[in-house]
Amino acid sequence: MAKDSPPRGTFTEKLQVPEALTFDDVLLRPAESRVEPDEADVSTRVSTNIDLEIPILSAAMDTVTEAETAIQMAREGGLGVLHRNMEPERAVEEVERVKRADETIIRRENVVTADPDQTVSEVDEMMSAEGVSGAPVVDEDDTVLGIISGTDIRPYLELGDFDAVREAMTDEVITAHEDVTPRQALELMYEHKIERVPIVDTEDHLAGLVTMQGILARREHQDAVRDEKGRLRIGVAVGPFEQDRAKAVDDAGADALFIDTAHAHNLNVVDSAREIKDMVDADVVVGNIGTAEAARDIVDFADGLKVGIGPGSICTTRVVSGAGMPQVTAVAEVADVAKEHDVPVIADGGIRYSGDAAKALAAGADAVMLGSYFAGTQEAPGRVITIKGKKYKQYRGMGSVGAMQSGGGDRYLKEESEDEEFVPEGVEAATPYKGTLSGELHQLVGGIQSGMGYAGAESVIELQSEAEFVRVSQAGQQESHPHDVMITDEA
Ligand code: XMP
Repeated sequence: MAKDSPPRGTFTEKLQVPEALTFDDVLLRPAESRVEPDEADVSTRVSTNIDLEIPILSAAMDTVTEAETAIQMAREGGLGVLHRNMEPERAVEEVERVKRADETIIRRENVVTADPDQTVSEVDEMMSAEGVSGAPVVDEDDTVLGIISGTDIRPYLELGDFDAVREAMTDEVITAHEDVTPRQALELMYEHKIERVPIVDTEDHLAGLVTMQGILARREHQDAVRDEKGRLRIGVAVGPFEQDRAKAVDDAGADALFIDTAHAHNLNVVDSAREIKDMVDADVVVGNIGTAEAARDIVDFADGLKVGIGPGSICTTRVVSGAGMPQVTAVAEVADVAKEHDVPVIADGGIRYSGDAAKALAAGADAVMLGSYFAGTQEAPGRVITIKGKKYKQYRGMGSVGAMQSGGGDRYLKEESEDEEFVPEGVEAATPYKGTLSGELHQLVGGIQSGMGYAGAESVIELQSEAEFVRVSQAGQQESHPHDVMITDEA
């Protein structure tokens, strides 16, 4: 309180405090329903201009989201948010990887090409190293001379692997121009029984490549979240004062920037976030906050508000600082303000089960962000480790010593100096290895849909407006989990 502010009553009055609730304190009250869970519509909006097919985001943490997670999240209809414990140049590369992942036309710079004078065995090695099964053959001017594939190479490998590519390649190449549609490209491939079509410019120079595999892979992901150019979407975390990173990833095509700090109601952060919003084309989501007052100070310029002060599984903010807001109340407070301005709300942290996600949505969130739930997946950064015969992956808080030393200490508005150590607000941990992200998302979304079925809500908006909560006693909470049995098969 400033020196001249009027007193706010006595200390004992100060202790007459409101109650704040979290996930285990409440349950959704079952309601009359005709909603079949499989048909419940989980599509939503994560920020002013970005719609999602599922209300799920992967956390901006260095053990959760890099390009691989982001690609899979977007393919499944959600959004990955790239962490910021990396140089801005690398963040740009990660954004570019996501943007390239499902492009119909592989752009020239990413096409593996062969030289007509290379030997057949050299090209064979090159193709297996690059993970492709065929390559356009181009001359020095990038004019397409032919195409070479595994099928062309095979007969040569035994007889004449020192023969030149020009001997082995197919020189009657079917090409197309840049405006070819996926359907036209497929028709060409079926008609000529080929698997790839080089794209050429008006002077027959190589401009890209369309492959059968690429088109079919894209068709598999009908629910993918794409930008206006048909590329997968990605969110990127930027520090509250990192204008350079914000500009760089915005130029690279990031769809949403997530101003990433543990306390976004710091007014210097608010000023800086406002400046960043004015600089970029991407949507700007601001977080984390946990109160209505914070929401009011930010909602006029933000495209989304992210909620979570201390609920995360690896987080020690509340024990270290004594500050925080139980997550269900925090979400509800922020959502009350955000709804008046039609700004989406993201509940970030503390979600252990799909039921917690359903509760967060019912409390007013439009989407949820998870870290620990995804850290054990195949796509998360880091390798699988085996401890006593069980598989794990590393999961660490971005406020842990290790993560802060790799950058990003300013998330906690702190910097390490030569003679002063960080005060960490998170721990380093291991989490069981879980297999594919898509399997985890299936469970998570299925559980949310079940919750919608019980609450009688056909859509996320109906879940927000219609679902009611009941307060759960400690005994009720115990009853909610498996009890009085010996579990033989963990769900
Ligand atoms: P879950 O519970 O899904 O939470 O693992 C992920 C979210 O936790 C936040 N986060 C932290 N919070 N100290 C904190 O106080 C930390 O070290 C830390 N690391 C991550 C973050 O919002 C993330 O999305």
